[in-house]
Amino acid sequence: MTRRNPWPNRRSEGPDPPVHAATVQPLIARPSGPLQGRARPPGDKSISHRALMLGASAIGETRVTGLLEGEDVLGTAAALRQLGATVERVGDGAWRVLGRGTGGLAEPDDVLDLGNSGTSARLLLGLMASHDMRVFMTGDASLRRRPMGRVIEPLSRMGAAFEARAGNRLPLLLRGATLPVPIRYKSPVASAQVKSAIVLAALNTPGITTVVEREPTRDHSERMLRYLGAEVRVADSAGGREIAITGCPELVGKPIAVPADPSSAAFALVAALIVPGSAVTMTGVGMNVLRTGLFATLREMGAALEIANAREEGGEPVADITARHSPLKGVIVPAARAPSMIDEYPILAAAAAYASGTTRMEGLAELRVKESDRLAAVAAGLAAAGVRHRMGEDWLEVEGANGPPPGTEPGTAIATHMDHRIAMSFLVLGLGARRPVTVDDGAFIDTSFPGFGDFMRALGADIRNAGEIEMAGGAGA
Ligand code: S3P
Repeated sequence: MTRRNPWPNRRSEGPDPPVHAATVQPLIARPSGPLQGRARPPGDKSISHRALMLGASAIGETRVTGLLEGEDVLGTAAALRQLGATVERVGDGAWRVLGRGTGGLAEPDDVLDLGNSGTSARLLLGLMASHDMRVFMTGDASLRRRPMGRVIEPLSRMGAAFEARAGNRLPLLLRGATLPVPIRYKSPVASAQVKSAIVLAALNTPGITTVVEREPTRDHSERMLRYLGAEVRVADSAGGREIAITGCPELVGKPIAVPADPSSAAFALVAALIVPGSAVTMTGVGMNVLRTGLFATLREMGAALEIANAREEGGEPVADITARHSPLKGVIVPAARAPSMIDEYPILAAAAAYASGTTRMEGLAELRVKESDRLAAVAAGLAAAGVRHRMGEDWLEVEGANGPPPGTEPGTAIATHMDHRIAMSFLVLGLGARRPVTVDDGAFIDTSFPGFGDFMRALGADIRNAGEIEMAGGAGA
């Protein structure tokens, strides 16, 4: 059987020079009128990956509603099919997963290609590590640069073996453990992906596996596992938070409702904060406290954010959030907050560019190993947009313009480095700036927020394709 290429829009090599230039999509955001409206952002990326993976590990049917149909999650779906699970979209937009039960995955007969998605790669390595099988894994140029040692190390202790490229990068070969052993592991990095990889490996490992995290990270895996019938105990101790999972549970498929992604809601909310006269409401947004650090920070900056309709859906808190245009002021964002807003620093930097005074963000070392070196990419983007800033090894200071920042020079574009969040954040920055902002490639936005352009335009944002003429002749024309 030939497998459909899951990455039809992807060039096969790194960003410089693009192999198929036609697939590069420069986009331009122009100063826009007030943003108004109410909309539901797409499903949460982290929860969507987990719903498919845990559904595939359960017995019976897991029906998932609100799944994010972004390329990263579709990559996870394709990989799970290669591992023998049934994962399909059914008529009404819901997804149906027929699982194989704990330990029931089959060896794939081809390479797993996880595209741009670190979450797919790391969580699947965990899930497969306790299965007696060999798997070859790769990804796109961005994913092949990202460190896998952080999961290879604990999964090796559980009995798996790996042959990876220098620096523990993809592509790699996983030899899953024949007799997996439980471990107690204190994670050196604050990473929900590392925690989840170990927890997923523990599913097919007899005994109790424990992960200790110094700072709590998103706990979607723990919540969903409990919901599907696993025993997961969580205790706070002096050394951090301990997550203990009892191996070989009988997971039973159940309906899963995926909340809207707070990390995606952030773009429209910040756009409303910076464009005068705006008021937008994002509905059904996940409000797990381990994800909402950006909203706390924006409030400290003076943002008018209202939370309404707080409720619980599928074991996760959700609410509707309204943002109104607000004068913002600079704040210090402490390192301890980083895990709860790790994907939101690029959009926070965009908001900070409009604030009065300086916003200092600390504890950003992990940003260096995201889809791009996000700290460097944000700093370079701020420079291109005329925003004063200073960057250290793990911190960033943004000097706000106390109103609209300049925007990009005509004919120049911000480099997005195959990173969806860099593209979306700088487009938002352009909506209230003095000049438009052009980004060199919006193609990767589809990894996490398919339909971003339409979604933002429906609220009144002027975001469009920047054609060849604009690129060559002046983006600000
Ligand atoms: C994720 C965890 C975070 C985050 C990523 C999704 C997850 O990564 O940046 O977008 O779903 O577990 P790290 O665990 O590397 O911090």
